[in-house]
Amino acid sequence: MTIRVLHVASELYPLLKTGGLADVTAALPAALIEQGADARLLLPGFAPVAAGLADLRPVARLSRTFGAPEATLELGRLPENGLPVYMIRADAFYARPGNPYLDAEHVPYGDNAQRFALLGWTAAQLARHLDPEWAPRIVQAHDWHAGLAPAYLRADAHERGLGPGAAPARSVFTIHNLAYQGVFPAQQFASLALPADYFDMHGIEFYGQLSFLKAGLYFADKITTVSPTYAREIQTVAQGGGLEALLRGRAHDLVGILNGVDYTVWNPATDETIATRYSATRMSGKLRCKAVLQARLALAPRHDAPLFGVVSRLTEQKGLDLLLAALPEILARGGQVAVLGTGDPSLEQGFARAARQHPDAVAVELGFDESLAHAIVAGADVIAVPSRFEPCGLTQLYALAYGALPLVHRVGGLADTVVDASLENLADGVATGFVFERFEPDALTAAIRRAFALYARTRDWRDTRRHAMEQDFGWSASAQRYMALYRELD
Ligand code: ADP
Ligand code: GLC
Repeated sequence: MTIRVLHVASELYPLLKTGGLADVTAALPAALIEQGADARLLLPGFAPVAAGLADLRPVARLSRTFGAPEATLELGRLPENGLPVYMIRADAFYARPGNPYLDAEHVPYGDNAQRFALLGWTAAQLARHLDPEWAPRIVQAHDWHAGLAPAYLRADAHERGLGPGAAPARSVFTIHNLAYQGVFPAQQFASLALPADYFDMHGIEFYGQLSFLKAGLYFADKITTVSPTYAREIQTVAQGGGLEALLRGRAHDLVGILNGVDYTVWNPATDETIATRYSATRMSGKLRCKAVLQARLALAPRHDAPLFGVVSRLTEQKGLDLLLAALPEILARGGQVAVLGTGDPSLEQGFARAARQHPDAVAVELGFDESLAHAIVAGADVIAVPSRFEPCGLTQLYALAYGALPLVHRVGGLADTVVDASLENLADGVATGFVFERFEPDALTAAIRRAFALYARTRDWRDTRRHAMEQDFGWSASAQRYMALYRELD
């Protein structure tokens, strides 16, 4: 029987994206459809989503609104790939300018608990045939925003005096990032319309507060995260964010499935946004992409200077403070650095200062710019991802595809996807980048020195780059693993 699966999330590329989650929610359902699933998506009706979906039509009025004056469910499709997308239209909740989670002062909206409860609750209603024409058997909830979906599914059975097996759909909760936990004051529990006994350490309660993330982890039938290494790391105190005991307790329901790359968007042979297309067997275009990038960013037009690129949220997670400390090493060796990012003001200022001091060698663009992201990955020789922790990471996968060798900390999905250019790995022809072990300046500096050393050995550099570009991180293998998981549940 066809598996009907509803993905519940808050972002969707290209309509609304603050990070890799949006890339995943656009590509994974499409990859599942290719594997024979009947997959749809449910999103809050943020302004760019409402404006970007095609053929939107009302499906049902929502009987519960969590304080919004009114809310309706609509169904449309993503123009890029035809993916069916349900959207909750509740303008008082979602049609706010700017960031979907934060107000103009970068403070979380005071009603985020209610805004995202509506998302989780609507998912459960869809499982109860809110749309008479389509209902999911599996609900896959992504990150804390959708964390209450598994709770409402359970609550449905609970209210009928039945056990978990009687929930209207089976649920999967996917952790993209354990650092964002969706924590709210306990007083807000009353507004969520959940059974009173769910406010419990065996439930949604988390150190006296509410955690939507914990609700997802506790109530979902299965838990996934986006790489095998991160699945292990989050069961430790160091990386479990206070949820490690719960995760260890559920270890037999927890699996790490690596994200994939949407090669219709990230492929240098077909990418219309870059200066010249190229491929592993026709590399001259990459040199031109580098020259165009240098010109665009007003860097010195030096084709022989190794160009280190960064495309990243500028947050604690991404470890770019370490890169900032290592900049003198790159500059002293004649390298260049191009940074595209936005976030933490101190990091923004740090990189901006370096660009002012070394305008020929360091360029920084503060902001979110999809086309420049492609231009940097295409033009750079190295893409640095020195993250403190990294659930999966997509940037290093895009870098591999574009022959920009990733330089990464051996952690999470970075450890699972990049093979260090050690002498033995070079000899075996398996190297794809540069990997450092300890999150310390000297370890990063040593990896940077390895990058320069390899760059000087033109033949080895080219071989490594070709091998990197030949890696296949397409979605189909991962989609098959999700399908197997769904079959276990169905
Ligand atoms: P995370 O989701 O933790 O931010 P990922 O590596 O999984 O990290 O995904 C990041 C995604 O966001 C990639 O598609 C990357 O190209 C994109 N991205 C990050 N910062 C920017 C930016 N400033 N401008 C454009 N794209 C960005
Ligand atoms: C999160 C993680 C990142 C991951 C992305 C998509 O934002 O930080 O590592 O690649 O989600 O799963």
